[in-house]
Amino acid sequence: MKTDTPRPIHLKDYRPTDYLIDEVHLDVKLVPQQTRVKSVLAIRPNPAVSDPASSLTLDGEQMELTGLALDGQPLARGDYTVDDKSLTIDNVPSGPFTLEIETTCDPDANTSLSGLYRSSGNYCTQCEAEGFRRITYYLDRPDVLARFTTRIEARRSDAPVLLSNGNLVASGPVEGTERHFAIWEDPFPKPSYLFALVGGDLADVDDVFTTASGREVTLRIYVEHGKEDRCDYAMDALKRSMRWDEEVFGREYDLDIFMIVAVSDFNMGAMENKGLNIFNDKYILARPDTATDADYSNIEGIIAHEYFHNWTGNRITCRDWFQLCLKEGLTVFRDQEFSSDMRSRPVKRIGDVKLLRSHQFPEDGGPLSHPVRPNAYIEINNFYTATVYEKGAEVVRMMQTLIGPEAFRKAMDLYFERHDGEAATVEDFVTCMEDASGRSLDQFMLWYTQAGTPELAVAGKFRRSERVFELTVTQMTPPSGGQRKKQPLHIPLEIGLIDADGEALPLKLDGHGALERPVLEITEEEQTFHFTDVPDKPVPSLNRGFSCPVKLTSNLSDDDLLFLMSRDQDPFNRWEACQTYAGKKLLQCVEDASKNQTLRTDEQLAEALDACLADTALEPAFVALMLNLPSENDLAARIGTNVDPWAIHTARSNLMAYLAGVLHDRLIGLYDRLTDNDPYSPAAADAGRRALRNTVLDLLSRIDGPDVASRQFKNASNMTDQMGALNVLGTIDAPERTDALNAFYDANKADHLLVDKWLALNAMAPFPDKIAEIRALTDHAAFSLKTPNKVRALVGTFSIANPVCFNHEDGSGYRFLADTVLALDSLNPQVAARLSSAFKNWRMMEPGRSALAKAEIERIKSRKGLSRDTLEIVTKTLQ
Ligand code: PHE
Ligand code: ZN
Repeated sequence: MKTDTPRPIHLKDYRPTDYLIDEVHLDVKLVPQQTRVKSVLAIRPNPAVSDPASSLTLDGEQMELTGLALDGQPLARGDYTVDDKSLTIDNVPSGPFTLEIETTCDPDANTSLSGLYRSSGNYCTQCEAEGFRRITYYLDRPDVLARFTTRIEARRSDAPVLLSNGNLVASGPVEGTERHFAIWEDPFPKPSYLFALVGGDLADVDDVFTTASGREVTLRIYVEHGKEDRCDYAMDALKRSMRWDEEVFGREYDLDIFMIVAVSDFNMGAMENKGLNIFNDKYILARPDTATDADYSNIEGIIAHEYFHNWTGNRITCRDWFQLCLKEGLTVFRDQEFSSDMRSRPVKRIGDVKLLRSHQFPEDGGPLSHPVRPNAYIEINNFYTATVYEKGAEVVRMMQTLIGPEAFRKAMDLYFERHDGEAATVEDFVTCMEDASGRSLDQFMLWYTQAGTPELAVAGKFRRSERVFELTVTQMTPPSGGQRKKQPLHIPLEIGLIDADGEALPLKLDGHGALERPVLEITEEEQTFHFTDVPDKPVPSLNRGFSCPVKLTSNLSDDDLLFLMSRDQDPFNRWEACQTYAGKKLLQCVEDASKNQTLRTDEQLAEALDACLADTALEPAFVALMLNLPSENDLAARIGTNVDPWAIHTARSNLMAYLAGVLHDRLIGLYDRLTDNDPYSPAAADAGRRALRNTVLDLLSRIDGPDVASRQFKNASNMTDQMGALNVLGTIDAPERTDALNAFYDANKADHLLVDKWLALNAMAPFPDKIAEIRALTDHAAFSLKTPNKVRALVGTFSIANPVCFNHEDGSGYRFLADTVLALDSLNPQVAARLSSAFKNWRMMEPGRSALAKAEIERIKSRKGLSRDTLEIVTKTLQ
């Protein structure tokens, strides 16, 4: 444990390394508590550095150094120094040389799941961002690209399967022993964070893919024995991803084999190691009776994401960790596009915007706010955030909107051509966008460097006599994270004008003529656009498709919003109008609730939703989204200060019950009509029908109680319908709830992914008097602090998806989270830090609650020996 204050790393201090590593030969002998790693490095001075230092410092931690030789000569004790994070060799040759390093590490003791560790007895690695330095001493940074050859040896009975990156070049028994070996060679130079190694007793499922140019690629998914029948969907998603990247981005796969390994202990979702992706098994395993539609769609999206990294991340990697969005934002953009093509584009877009609003906006508006490309970090693992990923994707999308799809594709081609094999920067990427389009993106770059969610205020005014519609747009980004004065951004605002009959009006700008694309470019603090030849007062449809990630306010009236809800040609904005309208009404209800007044209702909202339910032209998945009113967290964020979560909960529940009452007959009819006995298919259309049916069930149960949900729970023939019922029962304080949860646990206790669902259901119970019951589950046999999925299912869900309990006025919810963070911190700092970020909204709460939360955050912060991961988060949270 370190007690010294950790020092931040700054982007402005970037320097290339004095030495480069061209070749790495690893020889790994897998032993549970003492794995031995021999590394042979071909090193040379970096020609780009004029005066390299005579000493060489390699990163390394949590290892034992057992041997060191330079050009074949063992080094003496005085020739080098080792401390707890590095190895320095004092005088290295001025020309190329070879360094041989022998170390040991203890995979069994590794509970941080970074470096080499064991998951269910299998050896696996996680090297991003800085885990390779726990396997061997190395220049563990993304701008050092080397060719890796990896020999792995293990007892055949422990680890019949031995895998690493690239192609298998040899394997066989180690004569005279019970051990065997495999040698893997990766022809593509890569940074150490893309290294991976797996050893274990795993089953595999195989397939082949023929690339556009006719090469055959072996596809292989490794899973626990007995889970082979849960890989079909992942495999199918992989093949569709490979085809899509060829068709849409012209990118082919480049090795002879593509492997995926599913493990049950993993800090994140999945990892794009070259040719050997490692996945959290919840994003691989699916069968209709074990996975929900949401699981299927996550699997599809994450398989695609990791596969797409092969070009955006691996072939072109990042110069330094400040450039993380270069691979993550871009790859999220690519997986979003893929899912949009596979499924319904508007439904996908709405889902992505919901995620952005529920996770990224609060991050950007709170104490952890940072730019898409941060300037400084203490622990890089804390920067795998919604801002880097989701806002990073929005920034790429905005460039596509600004320069248009053709220029965007040209720019991507140029990027791949120019930077293949390199460690690139955000500037390199944006320069390609400029060169392909001939447009300057100087001002646009501010999206990468300026934190905070911009606020756009839009006011429309019709001047009948001149047939002019005037739209005034002002922009403002609130101060955040050390950035006080914000510059105006370059913002693409897609719009439409709609006449009283619901027809789209042509967009003609005064002095410019007809707009080529319906996009206004906002570049100043205030700008007015004059649309000409407008015959009658139009309703403007603003920020169509969410063309820019901003908080938009306008002078649209309630009637305008109701009109857009039913008539906008842009489906996204129909949903958005509903959210805006319902959000406005809900905020009034919250006010009623906090004043103990009768809660108001809204007939017009009920009517609009009724029309939506009756409209058979609408996709069921879309209707389901329309019926989902802004969440409690959403409303809390809109209120922003002095938040009372119980008033929000009461107001929202009341309005939902009101709507259910008004729509009751139609809902009953719909529920029956949507019930079918067809075999389960994960296809988007079928999933959409189930989503609508489960949303309808939720509404109905608010009037009719638990009966229908209980019946659905018992009769369900797939996990989606079963979970749909459980999600509803889970919020009803009745014996049916307990019965269903117990039945679910008993039926599924042998299946760790279903046990996670059960933990999450328990954690979501919105009953403030039952927090102790939730907390007691940390002692349940099904729970383990060492398995991130369990921690996230129970404590993560509790602190994010159960606002009334987490924010209990007696502080017991905050105490539960803080106690868990403290217990976890020494085992797994990355996950502890991420968990502690759930405190980020503490300042928004009413004074009583925020004082209690603050005390808990301070309690975490004052713990001696706290990891720098958690320390960075809680320190910033308190600032
Ligand atoms: N690079 C991974 C992805 O987004 C995420 C990840 C980061 C996984 C760090 C593990 C550790 O695809
Ligand atoms: Zn990624």
